[in-house]
Amino acid sequence: MSSTLDFDVTLTERPTPAEERARILADPGWGQHFTDHMVTIRYSADKGWHDARLQPYGPISLDPASQVLHYAQELFEGLKAYRQADGSIVTFRPFMNAARMNRSAQRMAMPEIPERLFVDALELLVRTDKDWVPGTEGYSLYLRPYMFATTKLLGVNQPAQEYLFVVIASPSGNYYARGIKPVSVWLSQDYTRAAPGGTGAAKTGGNYAASFAGQAEAVAHGCDQVVWLDAVEHRWVEEVGSMNLMFVYGSGADTRLLTPALTGTLLPGITRDSMLKLAPDLGIPVEEGKISIEEWQAGCASGAITEVFGCGTAAIISPVGHVKGADREWGIGDGGLGPVSMRLREELIGIQYGTRPDPYGWVHPI
Ligand code: COI
Repeated sequence: MSSTLDFDVTLTERPTPAEERARILADPGWGQHFTDHMVTIRYSADKGWHDARLQPYGPISLDPASQVLHYAQELFEGLKAYRQADGSIVTFRPFMNAARMNRSAQRMAMPEIPERLFVDALELLVRTDKDWVPGTEGYSLYLRPYMFATTKLLGVNQPAQEYLFVVIASPSGNYYARGIKPVSVWLSQDYTRAAPGGTGAAKTGGNYAASFAGQAEAVAHGCDQVVWLDAVEHRWVEEVGSMNLMFVYGSGADTRLLTPALTGTLLPGITRDSMLKLAPDLGIPVEEGKISIEEWQAGCASGAITEVFGCGTAAIISPVGHVKGADREWGIGDGGLGPVSMRLREELIGIQYGTRPDPYGWVHPI
């Protein structure tokens, strides 16, 4: 399909030497290294989307009064490109990211980007920097599309009229340096991530800025991650860190999943959505509902809840082993890696790396 804009292409004159790239890809860590190029596309209220470029990765020059630096009109997305066994490369559900960015844009009074243009931008970058897509299973090229307000404007009576859309790419290994191990979580009563009517369902940087203090509080209490509770009663479980949460009930043929419903204060995760479709096809029904911290604790005490995990693009599936709050503390299952979490993880990874069939059409060849 042809692009909605022609990209002006300028390749770097100083690509990363092959040996250095190989060294990075052998142990990429997470979000620390970036490929040789980036895509930028400008928007203005009078011209719409224009000036699409693929150019060398490098600093972006901004007017000090750029609206984003003051009022945080910003959105981002995250998805990955995966190397298949035959050497080809795919992305996973990229049109879902495009659609979510546009829903976030509506909430943040920002322009929507044509979905085809969004995907064209990603694909052009991946094709150009294809040698940066790791070949190791479990590793991938993390793609970070984002958009922010560039209008020189300190007034807050209207949203910006100009924006920059950018895509950068980062070879990624395990999100958690220690690999896939159950995490301990802190129930934050002092901080909330999102309130009804707020921006919790939008993938905007401000939500993440507001999360750092809660995450620091979790670490101060000896926990790996923070659990976000609802803003009104501070007892309904919403998310963990930057991930959606899944509760596994029962075992064997009686296994079922519960995940907090998308009430407007949760991010509609693409991994969450994939679980909602994948699990029932594996014979595990999923309910979107509500769970309080009391129900979580009681469920673990009675053995009704057997596993809990966070899910997101970056970490895929991150089991939760232990829960701590100001006045309570409990363990989940035997605190180890649960079979349901691991099965769902393997199925999803199998689809992403092409070792399992993709009956859903999620995989998008480049
Ligand atoms: C994800 O789980 O993919 C995220 O959104 C985490 C990202 C902010 C690093």
